[in-house]
Amino acid sequence: MSPHPDSDHHERVLIVDFGSQVTQLIARRLREAGVYCEIHPFNRVDKAMLDDFVPKAVILSGGPASVKAEASPRAPQDVFELGVPVLGICYGEQTICAQLGGDVERSDHREFGRAVVEVIEQSPLFEGVWEKGSSHQVWMSHGDRVNAIPEGFKIIAQSEGAPFAAIADETRRIYGVQFHPEVVHTPDGAKLLRNFTRNIAGLTGDWSMAAFREEAIARIREQVGDARVICGLSGGVDSSVAAVLIHEAIGEQLTCVFVDTGLMRAGEGEEVVRLFRDSYNIPLIHVEAEDLFLGKLAGVDDPEKKRKIIGATFIDVFDAEASKIENAEFLAQGTLYPDVIESVSFDGGPSVTIKSHHNVGGLPERMNLKLVEPLRELFKDEVRALGRELGLPEHFVGRHPFPGPGLAIRIPGEVTKEKADILRKADTIYLDEIRKAGLYDAIWQAFAVLLPVRTVGVMGDERTYDHVLALRAVTSTDGMTADYYPFPHEFLGRCATRIINEVRGVNRVVYDVTSKPPGTIEWE
Ligand code: XMP
Repeated sequence: MSPHPDSDHHERVLIVDFGSQVTQLIARRLREAGVYCEIHPFNRVDKAMLDDFVPKAVILSGGPASVKAEASPRAPQDVFELGVPVLGICYGEQTICAQLGGDVERSDHREFGRAVVEVIEQSPLFEGVWEKGSSHQVWMSHGDRVNAIPEGFKIIAQSEGAPFAAIADETRRIYGVQFHPEVVHTPDGAKLLRNFTRNIAGLTGDWSMAAFREEAIARIREQVGDARVICGLSGGVDSSVAAVLIHEAIGEQLTCVFVDTGLMRAGEGEEVVRLFRDSYNIPLIHVEAEDLFLGKLAGVDDPEKKRKIIGATFIDVFDAEASKIENAEFLAQGTLYPDVIESVSFDGGPSVTIKSHHNVGGLPERMNLKLVEPLRELFKDEVRALGRELGLPEHFVGRHPFPGPGLAIRIPGEVTKEKADILRKADTIYLDEIRKAGLYDAIWQAFAVLLPVRTVGVMGDERTYDHVLALRAVTSTDGMTADYYPFPHEFLGRCATRIINEVRGVNRVVYDVTSKPPGTIEWE
């Protein structure tokens, strides 16, 4: 991945990835401190790349490999010759020691989880945060440990399992920490990273959403020229923010297409149309395709088949509408940074997996369109910040994620209009109660699932035989892992009573207490 041209204006930090599961958190902590950074796999960093990137500082991430293992990864030696500050984290510290003349050994005393470090030397890395002689909680995750430090280095902090918990060569400005400052379980970690970028590398923290907005607009204008751009709106945050940003850059050259699949939540279609067409004056084609989608889904109950049918139908409808727009050369997508980061495989080996994200998979090739992806550098929380910067309403910007296949994957078994309508009503009540309880923003995603199971109940004097509805709510940081949200019982009781009283077709409500893994967030 080549660095983005607009980042030329910013001081940049290079994060060299050795495959740690928390490498992305290093980038987030830096960005939160106003420092622009990019993550690149260790085996993609060489002299030419460094000359092009011109980092003002380099951070070497953790990783699952052992520096004692044959052919284990190393930092490109050029990194140490740039004359810019270097910080090695965990594996990063160990490879610094292995490469610069120290030694690493396999240790019997492995440290995983919380540990305590004691500061034994004052250092610019600790300035204003940790005093000499004080002890602090950190998060460790290592088997190997440093055994001897290279010449020019000194120990600045130690722990029981890691006598070289933090080391420094203050002259060359090369630092190593055995613990992970990027995770929240190292409470002062963000401040230490800030010290590294501010005190040690002298960076000013010039990355802000206002600056990003201006640069992104200039870049879109340059890329697009006089051509027309099509943007598929899903009703979600990413495509909406991308559309508003592009509209600000090129105005009427942008046309949005919103396909109403009949599988959206209550009021979603109308809200998107109102917001874009009426408030922002963005040209919007609104395609009502409920009958088409439900027709294609009739009789299908296999989850994968449902997803494929919805994806293919979406492309057909979008293609038919977009083809009517003359001179369309570009397709806008709300691709985010986590989707474009090339990640190092977990064995730390040279194989590189690239996750590519296609919101409207296959369309660019089929329609011969080039891509505009103005959010490629941003994390989800940054997209939300950009949305606020662009004046999108808070309730829109803070929305829970919603899957492309929509309610179809929340109706196990065959999807029918009747079931979708029942689910929409129940889901609205559930989210209404969550909002009233002030819990919406504390939850990553909350939704109802209509089960293909009927149970016996009694309402008034009558026997009922209706659907079971499952409620799901999870906390998560990225959707990759998740925990169920621990609602108070009386809250769940209130939701169940309202749903059963107000939604005909449901007579029993259950709450899903499965975490991810082993469950997924969605039921299909
Ligand atoms: P799972 O169910 O895999 O979901 O734990 C993780 C996150 O991804 C969302 N999701 C999707 N989003 N298209 C999307 O745009 C999809 O096909 C899709 N499937 C799941 C899900 O809602 C959760 O936020």
